[in-house]
Amino acid sequence: MKLLAYSVREDEKIYFESYGKKYGMEVIIREDAPSLENAGQMEGCDCVSIITTPVDRELICRWKDAGVRHISTRTVGYDHIDRLAAAEMGITVSNVSYSPYSVADYAVMLILMAVRKVGIIARRYFGQDFTLRGVQGRELRNLTVGVVGTGRIGETVIGHLQGFGCRILAYDLYEKEAVNKMAEYVPLDRLFQEADVITFHAPSTKESHHMVNRETIAGMKDGVILVNTARGSLIDTEALIEGLESGKIGGAALDVLEDEQRIYYQDFKDQNICHRQMAVLANTPGVILTPHTAFFTDQAVSDMVEYSIRSCRQELEGEEDPFRIE
Ligand code: COI
Repeated sequence: MKLLAYSVREDEKIYFESYGKKYGMEVIIREDAPSLENAGQMEGCDCVSIITTPVDRELICRWKDAGVRHISTRTVGYDHIDRLAAAEMGITVSNVSYSPYSVADYAVMLILMAVRKVGIIARRYFGQDFTLRGVQGRELRNLTVGVVGTGRIGETVIGHLQGFGCRILAYDLYEKEAVNKMAEYVPLDRLFQEADVITFHAPSTKESHHMVNRETIAGMKDGVILVNTARGSLIDTEALIEGLESGKIGGAALDVLEDEQRIYYQDFKDQNICHRQMAVLANTPGVILTPHTAFFTDQAVSDMVEYSIRSCRQELEGEEDPFRIE
């Protein structure tokens, strides 16, 4: 049973080695991302493990011809895979559900950083400006936090927030009993109207695309803080920039960004990146940007690799695969 893993980072290699052995899979490790140019490498491989590189019909077709039966993404999100094409070609697809504490801890950290204006304070420190001008924060216990999406990560964020004494509003298409005990489910427009801080934990779908736009921003509280550790596509970045410029939006902490795929996880030191929205946001006081790092903990990386290999193994064995996306 042969698995080819693309986009493998140094920190993942020990896990590929140990879990490959544990699950009896021969693993071929590649540092490059999947592409039509390297599709020939899939010859004789039963499955492929990827991260967020777009995988379209043409690439799937090449993999199918090479003998691939299963695609596993070592990520929670799977909007980068043309699943319809895969299904038509009889190829199964799975994602993974790694430790939600990785992203949830980070989201709470970003909420606190934004509310306490740590981005401005830290930047100022390096210019030896130690004044308190404009950096007075607020206390979370006096605020209403809105959590959009109450899957494993959103639910964990809500659990973490219990200790801060804030009011918590939640929105999801599906309500969970456990969340009901810790937060109040409300319609999305009410959450937008009443929250001082909104944290996003929803997947990227047609329905969630630009759920934050000019119209929804207009309905939010003045000075609202937006925190996004989910997907860039949830927020219309132009509308966000306008909201920050007018002061309607008081701050933003963004671990994800529209069109991030071509820049994040690469070193562009001394180069022109040509991502204007990123450049504007990076120079806007009150905005904290990080390059899609929220997932990046030892536990999450171990889980991602283990579950990806396990999913491939179970698919090939004809066993029930809990990670299969139907
Ligand atoms: C996901 O798991 O969906 C993520 O966003 C993390 C990934 C970029 C490694």
